Amino acid sequence: MEVIRTISDLRRRLSTENETCCVPTMGNIHDGHLSLVKIGKERAPTVITTIFVNRLQFSQSDDFAHYPRTFDDDCEKLAVAGNDIVFCPDEDQMYPEPQLFFIDPPKVAKRLEGRFRPGHFRGVCTVVTKLFNVVQPQHAVFGKKDYQQLAIIRELTEQLALPINIVSAETVRAEDGLALSSRNRFLTETERSEAPRLRDTMNKIKTAILDGDRKYVAMEYAAGASLARYGWNVDYVVIRAQKGLRRPTEGESKLVVLGAATLGSTRLIDNLEINVE
Ligand code: PAF
Repeated sequence: MEVIRTISDLRRRLSTENETCCVPTMGNIHDGHLSLVKIGKERAPTVITTIFVNRLQFSQSDDFAHYPRTFDDDCEKLAVAGNDIVFCPDEDQMYPEPQLFFIDPPKVAKRLEGRFRPGHFRGVCTVVTKLFNVVQPQHAVFGKKDYQQLAIIRELTEQLALPINIVSAETVRAEDGLALSSRNRFLTETERSEAPRLRDTMNKIKTAILDGDRKYVAMEYAAGASLARYGWNVDYVVIRAQKGLRRPTEGESKLVVLGAATLGSTRLIDNLEINVE
């Protein structure tokens, strides 16, 4: 597996490739990321995983400095998974000068995660566009774990007519249902055993909806209150239409439950799609 650190080296290396797939990450690679690489390999002969902890998408409270950086370990895992190239620019490569041009996403980016992490999606859209310009892949894979991010990047790609096929990947979960995330390592033992409750709560909503319940607001409220009783600090648990992440209209059949809540000092997010027959 090749490791490339500069934009010029990457451009030179990719100049002879016809079809590539990009897997953008911030490192701290786990099985969730490796599943993206696997999907990438099915799409294109050359997979480029990018590792760049993007300062622009962190607000102060998100703590850019504490984001786990595990480069050697990441490379080992990526090589085993069959990844071809790791592109790991430093800040001087990606932001040689302070970034003054931004991709400003529409209203959907102000809701849900955007409400609790102002400016987050502006930072994500800006760096993803820049990475796309650098790598110029035909395909790019993003996990459904960051459901809102995936939706926004799809729209960004469409609206800016970027010739890139955005591929989504199912969330990879631990045996007890907890979605894999770089943040899970910050959970204490007790918190780790409590953590699957977020997913369980969403599953209950799914069962209720599939059983015919349509009192969405009441279900959202009950889910939040139930998590709070177990010590969670709930930002939101909401039922939305998969498309546009707006409130569902009557008869809407493609739904998604989205949730974000903090356990101790670790904020977890998760989601669950519901397709009503
Ligand atoms: O999902 C992530 O890890 C990041 O938001 C991304 C897409 C790599 C942009 O920095």
